[in-house]
Amino acid sequence: MRTLKNILVTGGAGFIGSNFIRYLFERVGFPGAIVNVDKLTYAGNPESLDDIRQSYGGQYHFEHADIGDFERMRDILARYDIDTVVNFAAESHVDRSIFGPKDFVQSNIVGTFTLLEAVRAHWGKRRDTLFHHVSTDEVYGSLGETGAFYETTPYDPRSPYSASKAASDHLVMAYHHTYELAVTISNCSNNYGPYQFPEKLIPLMIMNLREGKPLPVYGDGRQVRDWLHVDDHNSAVWLIMNRGANGETYNIGGENERENIWIVHTLCEAMARITGNSVDSYKRLITHVADRPGHDRRYAINCDKIKGALGWTRAVAFDAGLESTIRWYLANDAWVNRVRSGEYRNWIERNYGKR
Ligand code: NAD
Ligand code: TYD
Repeated sequence: MRTLKNILVTGGAGFIGSNFIRYLFERVGFPGAIVNVDKLTYAGNPESLDDIRQSYGGQYHFEHADIGDFERMRDILARYDIDTVVNFAAESHVDRSIFGPKDFVQSNIVGTFTLLEAVRAHWGKRRDTLFHHVSTDEVYGSLGETGAFYETTPYDPRSPYSASKAASDHLVMAYHHTYELAVTISNCSNNYGPYQFPEKLIPLMIMNLREGKPLPVYGDGRQVRDWLHVDDHNSAVWLIMNRGANGETYNIGGENERENIWIVHTLCEAMARITGNSVDSYKRLITHVADRPGHDRRYAINCDKIKGALGWTRAVAFDAGLESTIRWYLANDAWVNRVRSGEYRNWIERNYGKR
């Protein structure tokens, strides 16, 4: 069991990172400082943690910064006496990586490299530190009808997004072997839950259902993803940070493989239950559109290692998780509108000044 004192969370204004910070305060009762470093791209909204800022102001700190800024990173590591880094910061959307890969190379590869350089410069040979890197199952490529990704599966990324994540994973492991940096890596399957930017499958479909817009299903919709609630991802990350072996990679998955078209039908049915409108009025919005170039057919994770070695278990059943996620989006359209319009930047100015 490690002693983690002060944690730097990168990308903490995004979907998983903001839920992680909330998890540390509300579930774990973490006693140290938590510093959220985020560049605030279109996907980052620090307002997601406004209640945390108000309740835990002495412990929670927000720094508007790019992980690719070496001097800022080194200054933040020193100023807050950081001994633990968890790196969520990344460009994360496959479709955007197809249209514009440059930001993915910059933030995911150069950014992670720069952050590693900053911790190497600041921590030197210290042994009481940890760099946990959050990654994706997409680094392993695409599966056929059967089989699953293991921690030993060779990397075979197909999209600019997954290639950039694969490169960052390799850099993290290289710093472990070369400079003896204490590291752990997690590769997780598709997450869903509150505060996800509504461009990813589940929140996009929920918002389009709400607004009566077409539900764009890529190709035949028979692609398979393994869905996991964000809280279960974060409990796994926290467990690895505390108990994971130095230099090890852990797969995290939901053991919950679903075809995209099944997800869309299920969302239509759940929406009908919640609103009282007919299922057909929702299902007729389903529109098959051109497939994503290089679309990975199937992902499936084997997560026996984290279950066996660390005793990780999932807490959120898919049906319940999906329903609570729909209800969250229906109740929080103000958040959705602000993050979609970029209006949250006014909120940043009000609370943190112009930048
Ligand atoms: P997200 O896009 O919602 O959030 C990413 C956050 O990182 C944003 O707040 C953004 O402003 C910030 N950011 C981007 N570039 C930055 C930079 N250069 N410096 C500082 N901050 C920067 O993404 P997410 O879904 O929360 O994903 C978080 C991490 O988890 C990513 O590393 C992603 O690859 C990984 N992951 C995501 C999933 C998923 O299903 N969403 C699954 C497995 C792994
Ligand atoms: P996404 O949420 O973008 O995650 P990822 O590409 O990282 O798995 O997409 C999940 C699946 O849903 C993927 O197979 C692509 C598909 N998809 C659609 O069919 N329509 C959409 O509008 C989106 C955003 C995704």
